[in-house]
Parts: sequence; structure tokens; C-alpha cells
Amino acid sequence: MQDFETFLVNHMPTVDTFHPEYNEALQAMLLAGGKRFRPRLLLGIVEAYQPLLLESAMHPALALEIFHTYSLIHDDLPAMDDAQLRRGHPTLHTRYDEALAILAGDALNTYAFEILVHSPFRADVRVELVRILAENGGSGGMVLGQAIDLRFENEPLTLEQVIELHRNKTAKLIAAALEMGTVIVGLDPEIRRELYDYGIELGLLFQVQDDILDATQSPEEAGKPTGHDSEKNSFVTLLGLEGALAYADALSESLEKRFETFDEPIRRGVGAMIRRYLHRHRSEKDA
Ligand code: IPE
Ligand code: IPE
Ligand code: MG
Ligand code: MG
Ligand code: MG
Repeated sequence: MQDFETFLVNHMPTVDTFHPEYNEALQAMLLAGGKRFRPRLLLGIVEAYQPLLLESAMHPALALEIFHTYSLIHDDLPAMDDAQLRRGHPTLHTRYDEALAILAGDALNTYAFEILVHSPFRADVRVELVRILAENGGSGGMVLGQAIDLRFENEPLTLEQVIELHRNKTAKLIAAALEMGTVIVGLDPEIRRELYDYGIELGLLFQVQDDILDATQSPEEAGKPTGHDSEKNSFVTLLGLEGALAYADALSESLEKRFETFDEPIRRGVGAMIRRYLHRHRSEKDA
């Protein structure tokens, strides 16, 4: 069976056109790497319950990674975070121009849904996968989080509001990864909900860690600009570095305990990976 990276390379968006940079612009950020956290979560759930479906599950896993990559391309635009570096490479608007970066993001957003619609599952499963990605990534999810993030630059929010911001901006897509896995393998609604809720808390931790790493890593280590969040409602801005670290410790401890209550296949399928990520605000901070 192909691994995820090979599958990704073999399923790049490619359009027949005389535009000289179009395909390259759509593909560049996907091929630039990244941790592939969201597809790994999805594939981990599938591997735990139905390893025979892993090859088919590569399609939704890729759709999720492509959607996430679109969000990063737009996040880096001058009107948003104005970043020059992403995944260790120049951002698309610096490499080409702003118009092409916006359009590459648009194209990846829609390509993600194209992949889901053509994925090799029953129609009801495909509809459910489309719903999950749209609801968590779109107007009531990632897009809302980004809107709040940018609207309140230089305007302090309460802790509760920052949690709400992080839940939308980052956590919902991570929860969606786990839920998409459960839909593919046909788990009961109860465990679906439990894993989704777990993904929300895990995603909140993931963004708190990202805020910490913005304050502690070099751009070379992070593959993106760091020290970039001082105007933002990041956890470090809100609580200070020590406060954010303590907050992340508390979250990761509670997530670790909660993980032990899941069924054996889940602990086997995603346990090692989740445990590694639970502590990255400590392990990567001083790397
Ligand atoms: C970065 O996501 C943006 C956040 C939501 C924190 P990742 O940290 O998953 O970025 P890549 O995919 O590894 O580049
Ligand atoms: C962006 O959060 C999350 C997205 C929805 C893309 P950040 O702005 O903190 O992500 P980085 O630090 O640039 O990766
Ligand atoms: Mg941002
Ligand atoms: Mg950013
Ligand atoms: Mg960040």
C-alpha cells in the first residue's frame, strides 16, 4: 500500500492550462511538507478498526490536508498574518504574487471537496464527510476563528473568548479529522461524539502549543516566522509564557487521562502519535 506522502504526490491538483505558474502554485505548499497531523489522526482511526479501508481513506485524509493547506496559504497573506515563510519555504504571495496566492487557496479549498465527492465510499458516507469538513472548516469553524483572530488584533479578549477563537480557528478541523475517521469505519454515534469532543480539546491544546512555539522557536525550527503573535490574542499574549506553558500542561495531563478511557483499538491506532503531540510544548520548545 502507498504511504500518505506518495499518495499526496500522486494526487496533486493538475489542470491543463497555458498559465505558466498555475499548477506549480497550487502544488507548492502541499509538497513543502508539514506535520500531516490531521490526516494522520484520520488514518489512525481507520487503521485501528478497519485496516483494509486504509487505501480508500487516503482520499479523505488528503482532502483534509489540502483544505488545511488552503487555510495556511490564506493565513499568510498580507491582509492576514503577512508571513514570508511557510513550511520552510517562501510563502506563495512572495514567490508569485498576492492574486495567485489567493486563487491557489481558493482552488485548494474546492479541490478538497472534489476529492471527497469522488472518494471510494458509499454516497451516504461521502455526504457525511463533506458535511463534516464544510461545517468545521467553513463559516461556523475555521473561517470564523480566523475572522475573530484578525478582528481583535490589538484588542484584548477574555480567556473564554480566546478559547472560543482557538476552538474555531484550529480545534474544529482537528476534531473533524477524528470524526471523519469514525464515519469511514462506521462507529456508533456515541463514540463519534466522544472522539469529536476529544479532538476539540486536543485541537485547543495544539493551538496553545503553536502560540508557545511562536514565542520560543526560531523561524528555522518552526519553518515559519516566529515572534509574530504580539498583536494577537494568543495564549502567550494573554497568560505570559509561563502561564501558557502551565495551561498547556494542565490540558495535556487531562487529555492523557481521558485518552486511557478509549477502547483498545483507538489507544493502539492513535495512542503513540497523540502522546507525542500532547507534550510538544515541552519537547520542541528547547529542541
Ligand atoms: C499550523 O498548523 C496552523 C495551526 C492551526 C496551528 P500545523 O502546525 O499543523 O502546520 P503544518 O501542517 O505542520 O505545516
Ligand atoms: C492559523 O493560526 C490557523 C489557521 C486556521 C490557518 P496561526 O496564524 O497561529 O498559524 P501559524 O502560526 O501562522 O501557522
Ligand atoms: Mg493566523
Ligand atoms: Mg499565521
Ligand atoms: Mg501561530
